[in-house]
Amino acid sequence: MTTVTFHSGEQLPLEMHKVRIVQKLTLPPVERRLEAVTEAGNNTFLLKNAEVFLDMLTDSGVNAMSDRQQAAMLIADDSYAGSATYTRLEEAVKKIFGMDYFLPTHQGRAAENILSQALVTEGSVVPMNYHFTTTKAHIVLNGGTVEELIPAAGLEVTSTEPFKGNMDIPALRKLAAERGRAGIPFVRMEAGTNLIGGQPFSLANLRDVREVCDEFGLLLMLDASLLADNLWFIKVREPGYAQVSVADIAREMADQCDIIYFSARKLGCARGGGISLRTQALHDQLRPLVPLYEGFLTYGGMSVREMEALAVGLEETLDEDMINQGPLFIEYMVNELDRRGVPVITPAGGLGAHVDARRFLDHVPQDQYPAGALASAMYIAGGIRGMERGTLSEQREPDGSERLAELELLRLALPRRVFTLSQVCYAIDRIDWLYQNRRIVGGLRFVEEPEVLRFFYGRLQPVSDWQEELVAAFRRDFGDSL
Ligand code: F0G
Repeated sequence: MTTVTFHSGEQLPLEMHKVRIVQKLTLPPVERRLEAVTEAGNNTFLLKNAEVFLDMLTDSGVNAMSDRQQAAMLIADDSYAGSATYTRLEEAVKKIFGMDYFLPTHQGRAAENILSQALVTEGSVVPMNYHFTTTKAHIVLNGGTVEELIPAAGLEVTSTEPFKGNMDIPALRKLAAERGRAGIPFVRMEAGTNLIGGQPFSLANLRDVREVCDEFGLLLMLDASLLADNLWFIKVREPGYAQVSVADIAREMADQCDIIYFSARKLGCARGGGISLRTQALHDQLRPLVPLYEGFLTYGGMSVREMEALAVGLEETLDEDMINQGPLFIEYMVNELDRRGVPVITPAGGLGAHVDARRFLDHVPQDQYPAGALASAMYIAGGIRGMERGTLSEQREPDGSERLAELELLRLALPRRVFTLSQVCYAIDRIDWLYQNRRIVGGLRFVEEPEVLRFFYGRLQPVSDWQEELVAAFRRDFGDSL
């Protein structure tokens, strides 16, 4: 993919696959898009997918499968216990990570539930490069707290730092010295760090984390949900790895860890999850929780068809032509937006393009949810569904005041191998148009605000008639175009 040069000198990502199954899309007219987003309470989680043109909400469970994955699903061995399918999955996981023990779960947060219940104790602290929402929720539920040790460079929106997901090693050593082994159930590193824009860590940094863990006798846990992107970034950005195979990079990464868990809704382009463990002691400690919450040990809540697809998907994760489509398309999208002056997280990471709503809508106060307003405006402008990752996704403080998020982002995920380059170009065009018309966009306020996870179910309305104005501007500029 990267070795194909265009005679024209253009730098375009070129797919090393062809499409053999398609799904028809519809793009409702802008007037209908305004109605639809109003019916959804200006919450993109509540939009009906039939009215969405490009679904960039997430990459979770919506990556395209390969023909080999689909074929494998047809030979699944449907049995409650001892299924041959499970054996194939277990072997595939062992092959990629080289750990002797594996426990299946129905998705990533189920693995987090089991790990947190078994390991997190009241008053303990879990150091990590950065939190993910469900991870933090499970740690907190079990009496722990999360300590994010991302260096300041990791949170800089505009940057050239290649590994913004790196852990601050001196800060980790300091915390480890203060709290010791008894106060730290594990250190967590997240590959392709989701909430800071899908940013990777380097292998050099992971080795340094391991060194601190060895010094203080701590367990090192990897959240490998976004492993594929991180593997690719190590190969292309970390000195010395250009000629190393993705399989060898994955193994070198796994070799640093005691525990690896993942959401197979992301890793392996399937649905499900699992936990790899280095020692029998850890396995024996966690195992009782699997039949309790997930299902028997040879399916863990996954269907056999998904397990077959996952086994093949994991194998394909080690093929660089299979994992580079996401990062290369995202890089194209981010660089094009950046070139047009649209504020985006740079450098491009994995997962998707992350638009900086705070700068995009610098006239919308944070307590009127600029990232939420941008998500609503994006759907009106292009039928594109993104996800708010900002203040709206936070929970209020106990006194009812808003907890203002560090970053106000509109995440436009690119599920792997799902969109064509012309669809990405369409998205770039509509974001660019919205940016030119950004002063029209106003804030949102809640009309229904759930106490827990308000971003999933909450309903909001615009603070003025800015949405009608946006539709009028669209018609003025685009005539009768959809
Ligand atoms: N860890 C990371 C880094 C994730 O991105 C996710 C899910 C999980 C754990 C939880 O896994 O959804 O299978 O239970 N991320 C999704 C997203 C929800 O849209 O970014 P899960």
